[in-house]
Amino acid sequence: MAASRHIDPEHYQAFRRFLEDSCGIVLGDNKQYLVSSRLGQLMVRESIADLGELVRRVDDRRAAGLRGKVIEAMTTNETQWFRDSYPFAILQDRLFPEFDKGGMSHVRIWSAACSSGQEPYSISMALEEYRARGSRLEAEIVGTDISPAMVAHVRAAHYGGSAINRGLSLDRRKRFFRQVDGDVWEVRPEVRGRVRAHVHNLLESFAALGRFELIFCRNVLIYFSAVSREDILGRMCQQLSPGGYLIVGASESLARHADELEMVRSHGGVIYRRRGTR
Ligand SMILES: C[S@@+](CC[C@H](N)C(=O)[O-])C[C@H]1O[C@@H](n2cnc3c(N)ncnc32)[C@H](O)[C@@H]1O
Repeated sequence: MAASRHIDPEHYQAFRRFLEDSCGIVLGDNKQYLVSSRLGQLMVRESIADLGELVRRVDDRRAAGLRGKVIEAMTTNETQWFRDSYPFAILQDRLFPEFDKGGMSHVRIWSAACSSGQEPYSISMALEEYRARGSRLEAEIVGTDISPAMVAHVRAAHYGGSAINRGLSLDRRKRFFRQVDGDVWEVRPEVRGRVRAHVHNLLESFAALGRFELIFCRNVLIYFSAVSREDILGRMCQQLSPGGYLIVGASESLARHADELEMVRSHGGVIYRRRGTR
C-alpha cells in the first residue's frame, strides 16, 4: 500500500468501521494517507496485499494478534510528564488537602488511556511531593490502556532518550528516577509502588475496575465519535465516588454531563466534581 490513491473507497469505509467498532477511534473522510503511512510496514511484514484483505483478516475471530497490531499502529501515544501542569498543581493544592481534611487515608485514582505511563507516574510524584509536606495520604493509581505494548512500558518503568526529559524538571528526575544504563532512567520504587497497569479498552465495561475518588481521562476521547465520548464519560461518572473528581484534557468539555458533574475552576484550568457528598 505505497500510496493513499491505491486505497479502494469500499475498503477504506470497511476499515473505518472496523477501527471505530474495535477501539472507538473515528477516522475522517480523507485520512487514507494516515492509514497508508501507519499500516504500510505491518502489511508488508504480514504479506497483506491491500486494505480489503486486512479487513477480512482482522474480522476473523482467531486474528486477535493482528487486530491488536493494527489498533496499536493506528493509535497516538503522545504524552509527557506533568502534561498541562495545572491538574498536578490542583492535586497538590486542592484535592489532596481535601481528601486529607475529609479523613481519607487512602484514595483510588484512575489514569485512563495512560499511554507509556507518564500520567500515572506524574500523579504519583505529585503525591510524593505532597506527602513530603507532612501528609500520610496514600493512593492506588490504576493506569489502563488498550495497547499491551504501552502497558508493558508502564510496568517496566524505564524511560530514555527524549521521553525522560519531556516535561520533567532536572530536580524531579534526580529525586524520582535512578539512572540504570547510559540514557535510561528507572522510576524509583516509592513512586512506582502505588501504580498498577492493566490492558483495558474504554469501549468495554468499567465494572471490574471499581470505584475511584479521581479519574484522569485526557487526550483520548478527542479521537472518538460524540456518541462514544458521551457514553464513556457517562459510565466514568458512575465509577466516581460522590464528591470525586474527573479531569479531562485542556481542550475537552463535559457540558453535557452538568446533571452529574459540576465544573470547578482552579489554577487556570477546569476540572469536574461528581455531585453529592462523600
Ligand atoms: C494521546 S495518548 C494520551 C496519554 C495520556 N492520557 C496523556 O494525556 O498524556 C492516547 C492513548 O489512548 C490509548 N487508547 C486509544 N483508544 C483507546 C481505547 N479504546 N481504550 C483505551 N485506551 C485507548 C492509546 O493507546 C494511547 O496510549
